[in-house]
Amino acid sequence: MKLLALTASPRKEGNTELLLRSFLDGIESAGWETETIRLNDLNYRPCQACDRCAPTGKCVVQDDMQLLYPKIIACKALVLVTPIYFGSLSAQLKMYIDRFQCWWHAKYNLNKPFILPEEERPAYFLTVGALKNKEYSESARKIVGVYCHIVNLKLRGSLCFRGYDEPGSIAGEPKNLEKAFQDGVAFATE
Ligand SMILES: Cc1cc2nc3c(=O)[nH]c(=O)nc-3n(C[C@H](O)[C@H](O)[C@H](O)COP(=O)(O)O)c2cc1C
Repeated sequence: MKLLALTASPRKEGNTELLLRSFLDGIESAGWETETIRLNDLNYRPCQACDRCAPTGKCVVQDDMQLLYPKIIACKALVLVTPIYFGSLSAQLKMYIDRFQCWWHAKYNLNKPFILPEEERPAYFLTVGALKNKEYSESARKIVGVYCHIVNLKLRGSLCFRGYDEPGSIAGEPKNLEKAFQDGVAFATE
C-alpha cells in the first residue's frame, strides 16, 4: 500500500511535520510504504478559473501541479497536513485544493471521475494551530472535507492540535506524538 502525504507548512520540521512523522511511523509499522511531498517546495499557481479544463477534466496550467495529479491517482491513501493560518488552511494547501476544479468538471460534467467513489479510498487530515479556538481547526477540516468529497476520497478522520506555536513545541508533550503514532497504526490497520 502506498500512502501519499502532502505537507503545507513553509516551516521544515515544524509542528505539523513532526506530527506527520509520528503518524507515518505508525503507518509504516503496519508495513505500508509512504511518500511525503512538501507543497512549499513546489512551484504552482492558483486556479485561473479559465475553465479550459471543462472539456477534458485536465488542468491546462503547466506547472508542478502536473506532477501531483498522477500521484493522487496512483496513491492508495492521502494525508493532508497544514498549520492553521488565519482560521483556515495555509495558502499552499488552499491553492492545491483549488487546482482540483478540473476534477470537479471530470466528476460532475463529464461523469468520468479520476477516483471512483466505490473505492472508498481513505484520507486523513492533520493540523496544528497556536490558539485554542476550536472553530479554526473545524473550518480547516470542513474545507478538506469538501475537497475529499469532490475528488471521491473518504475522509476517515482528523487530528487537530491547538495551543502550539513555537516550532517543535508539539513534541514538548510526548503524548501528542504518541497519539499521532497510534492514529497512524489505526488508519493503516482499520
Ligand atoms: C501567517 C500565519 C497565520 C497564522 N494564523 C493562525 C490562526 O489563525 N490561528 C491559530 O491558531 N494559529 C495561527 N498561526 C500559528 C500556526 O498555526 C502555528 O504556529 C502552528 O504551530 C504552525 O505549524 P508549523 O510549525 O507546522 O508551521 C498562524 C501562523 C502564521 C505564520
